[in-house]
Amino acid sequence: MQTKMIESSSQERAQVISNSSCQDLVVFNYANLDGLAVDFRTFKFFDTDIKIKQAWSEGGKGGSDIGFGCSVYNCSFVLAQYIEDNPSIVADLSCIELGCGPGLTSIVAALANPKNIVATDGDSISVELTNENMKQQLSLKKRIKTKANAKVLLWGNDKHLSSFIDKYDTILVADVVAVPYEQAYHDLLYTLKYLLKPLGKIYLCYQQRHTSENTFFNLFYQQFHVVEIDQNELHPDFRNTNTQVQVRPIKLYIATNNHNSNSTNGRDAVENVKN
Ligand SMILES: C[S@@+](CC[C@H](N)C(=O)[O-])C[C@H]1O[C@@H](n2cnc3c(N)ncnc32)[C@H](O)[C@@H]1O
Repeated sequence: MQTKMIESSSQERAQVISNSSCQDLVVFNYANLDGLAVDFRTFKFFDTDIKIKQAWSEGGKGGSDIGFGCSVYNCSFVLAQYIEDNPSIVADLSCIELGCGPGLTSIVAALANPKNIVATDGDSISVELTNENMKQQLSLKKRIKTKANAKVLLWGNDKHLSSFIDKYDTILVADVVAVPYEQAYHDLLYTLKYLLKPLGKIYLCYQQRHTSENTFFNLFYQQFHVVEIDQNELHPDFRNTNTQVQVRPIKLYIATNNHNSNSTNGRDAVENVKN
């Protein structure tokens, strides 16, 4: 796996170093970066610089109404890395992302030549950011012919879902199973079921912050056939074997339709669990 370089890395490294109490050499590690509040971050995937505009603001929700949808989170970076390492998971396939934030994962997916990629978020602030980032970045990369756009999709919203007539081969999801969104877990499941083709695959990247998030995973494992990707296939800075990192490791799950499941959608699943 190629080591990634970020255009703004010298600035961000300086920040890491200045935050260090000992002022000694600090080993650069992506998991130690705190880049949520900077205006722009540049990542390199598929030999292409991708400059992402962020829009963090103070006030508890990081700049967006639903919350935390204006910055690139580590799960998005790890999923983007996985796409670069395994481009066949999107190449020539119809793809959608749920909870895209400012759009890094979808933009990297677009570089892997999918049939199409639609980035979605329930928050119009994130959708506007992603559309701007897509326009800026993908129009610069002349080799991109992919149809890529961003639109609003609030999970479980039937009006929004009705505009998605086609189902998808690949659904990308990064850092959306998290405490601030726990009221929406059932709607998220329903939306995953609704949008997935019978033989499609979901790639869900997750970083645990609270044990209550297991509520989602109990339902997820009931509703889908779920396999956790070996940590060695993820970016090394985010593996649970990485001793330089103080943050929780990131996990990536691949889910397919569970044809043995009795319920036909996520709403049935919710009722089954309640009873
Ligand atoms: C922590 S951010 C992750 C953004 C991006 N995937 C990343 O990893 O950088 C979670 C995103 O999920 C979106 N989200 C949360 N609840 C949602 C809901 N009910 N419907 C649609 N999007 C939602 C938020 O607006 C936010 O953009």
